[in-house]
Amino acid sequence: MTKPRRVLVTGASSGIGAATARLLASRGFDVVAVARRLDRLEALAKDTGIAVHRLDVTDFNAIKALAAELQPVGIDALVNIAGGATDAALVEDADPDSWRAMFEVNVLGVQQMIAHFLPLLRDAARANGSADILTVTSTAGRTPYESGGGYNVAKYGATALMGVLRLELAGEPIRVIEIAPGMVKTEGFALGRFAGDTSRVEALYKDVENPLSAEDVAEVIVASLELPSHINLDQVTMRPVAQAAQHKLVRGKLEPK
Ligand SMILES: NC(=O)c1ccc[n+]([C@@H]2O[C@H](COP(=O)([O-])OP(=O)(O)OC[C@H]3O[C@@H](n4cnc5c(N)ncnc54)[C@H](OP(=O)(O)O)[C@@H]3O)[C@@H](O)[C@H]2O)c1
Repeated sequence: MTKPRRVLVTGASSGIGAATARLLASRGFDVVAVARRLDRLEALAKDTGIAVHRLDVTDFNAIKALAAELQPVGIDALVNIAGGATDAALVEDADPDSWRAMFEVNVLGVQQMIAHFLPLLRDAARANGSADILTVTSTAGRTPYESGGGYNVAKYGATALMGVLRLELAGEPIRVIEIAPGMVKTEGFALGRFAGDTSRVEALYKDVENPLSAEDVAEVIVASLELPSHINLDQVTMRPVAQAAQHKLVRGKLEPK
């Protein structure tokens, strides 16, 4: 029997990350799941047998320590999902601390994860012929929108980072995959953006027929990892059918004309 591929998933305590960790485990991958909320990770571990570690991706010493801890067992794929938005402010009103926080988690967290885990991924590529780095960015990194400023800037940064990395790793058997979802109805994302205001969260998704779910995005992430290792999905943009573009969200029932 071939050894299952070991995948390190960040942001695995809720939403897209938790769904991805579960789906990977159900498809036979060996999963290491990380996030800050250990109680949630422990519940995930209890359900699935997944290995879990507490990790704040903005704590670069902690990333380094985790990479050293996992070095003996190695990893074959790094899946960066930790991230999100901390405000919905106009550029003229934005709090620089909030923008800094979004840049730290969505860009620097990803860069530091890659920097510290690349040696392990190269070991895997030497041993097995391939390795993967996948990051969940956003359609917020494709199109700017009003009150999206800090999050747009961060996700454009994450997209640029993945593009640069793909060029820098050219010549190595390491895939660099970017998945950019549009509207996904998850537990935490909109709550973080609207500072816990549930009425604004409800208004965002109101009457949208089938926004993407965390499980939908997990399906695409896992499918991209399961493809033969010479196929690199550079950039995947995925949206609900009700969202034709960032500014074209249809509310109400979708019907043929
Ligand atoms: N929902 C959407 O509409 C949407 C659309 C496009 C892209 N995305 C992106 O998809 C990713 C997942 O979002 P989601 O919708 O699943 O939201 P979510 O339910 O809020 O999940 C966010 C995850 O990121 C983790 N996280 C946040 N800060 C972290 C930190 N400093 N260190 C480690 N982990 C951290 C959280 O865990 P802890 O709090 O336990 O650390 C949580 O597991 C994000 O990168 C988001 O930007 C979301």
